Amino acid sequence: MSAEANRYDVIIIGAGASGLMCAIAAGQRQRRVLIVDHAEQAGRKILLSGGGRCNFSNMSVTAENYLSNNPHFCKSALSRFTPWDFIELLNRYNIPFHEREHGQLFCDNSAKDILDMLLNECRLAGVEIRLATKIDAVEQSSTGSYRLQSKQGDFFCQSLVVATGGLSIPTAGASPFGYRLAEQFGIKVLETSAGLVPLTLQPAQKERLTTLSGIAVKSRVSNGAQSFCENLLFTHRGLSGPVILQLSNYWQPGQQLQINLLPDTDLLLLLRQAQQQRPQKQLKSILAELLPKRLLETFLDEQLLATPLRGLTEKQFRSVVDGLQHWAIKPNGTEGYRTAEVTRGGVDCKQISSKTMEALQVPGLFFLGELLDVTGWLGGYNLQWAWSSGWCAGQVV
Ligand code: FDA
Repeated sequence: MSAEANRYDVIIIGAGASGLMCAIAAGQRQRRVLIVDHAEQAGRKILLSGGGRCNFSNMSVTAENYLSNNPHFCKSALSRFTPWDFIELLNRYNIPFHEREHGQLFCDNSAKDILDMLLNECRLAGVEIRLATKIDAVEQSSTGSYRLQSKQGDFFCQSLVVATGGLSIPTAGASPFGYRLAEQFGIKVLETSAGLVPLTLQPAQKERLTTLSGIAVKSRVSNGAQSFCENLLFTHRGLSGPVILQLSNYWQPGQQLQINLLPDTDLLLLLRQAQQQRPQKQLKSILAELLPKRLLETFLDEQLLATPLRGLTEKQFRSVVDGLQHWAIKPNGTEGYRTAEVTRGGVDCKQISSKTMEALQVPGLFFLGELLDVTGWLGGYNLQWAWSSGWCAGQVV
């Protein structure tokens, strides 16, 4: 292939959510765009997302739904390409979707609808996609253009967009490539760790709770600074479910969690009233109306559970409340990148333009999506960030 054929206005490394969106926007501006990806398939994480139904965005997206060392950074892009802009695209393709609790937007059918739509938009915008292409080295010439070396030959471009995502799920193509490239150009990378990830337990706790594996209960979980109220799932490795994934974004090793297994109930009042109204009932039959029996047996003393309410003291009521509503637990760690949905930390936003995603000190070099130190809550926020950051860069590359 001639060197001329390998010259592009824009090369995007990473055919994921943000890279595809950037390519579409740039292609629509008549830029000559190439996407390269080392994986054999584009958009693997889009296909995995939302349990295959792609929770592609959320009805309410604000900067408060994101973590970053620079909490204002995400505002501009999120306000310029909003959930409504993405919905408009879906509507053009007649892709059916629905809203679930907490404003989460999911496809009715399959995440494949979204990937197919993005790939078709790329095709219409004249974007070239090269899969199974590994970039071995990147260098910038004295004129500011970029040369990418690969076994398939060298590629040249004016604007280089790095959209290689985070470290979660290595089997879906994740790699640290983008972080290393940022460092190569003198851009700081903040410490990374697994986010939206199940938590593991200390061996003794794990053994005690192992019989609860599979049980899910609505809970309020807090680390003191942040709290969420959603389902908690006991697993054979530890704690999971939406409430734990949300909190995991804020959890630091060594921190204790406070868990309320009955967040919507004034348990003390309920027990006092039940004692008046149904004194002969055993404690366990009252509590079994609220929580699974197996869980009660793990958290409360067997003898106490078998006692009729009339025989229980206020102090014993308070110990029941403590056991179920003030459970304090120190997780052992997280399940790590193997099962995490996202990566916390990443390319330091202080060195990136919040309007264009271009590196402030390196003209023509752009960073998108999860690679940046912008981590969304569970609920469609991470994909919305990928669409928004990709679209903004696509306007200027
Ligand atoms: P993304 O990961 O999408 O794309 C990166 C691309 O770069 C990949 O195609 C990869 O192959 C490529 N790449 C990596 N290294 C490379 C290299 N060295 N050379 C070339 N190419 C390289 N979010 C959400 O909002 N709603 C949801 O429902 C879900 N669900 C979900 C489920 C699961 C199981 C996971 C793992 C994640 C989610 N997420 C999610 C998170 C969401 O998928 C994620 O934040 C976005 O896909 C990030 O988009 P990016 O474009 O930044 O990276």
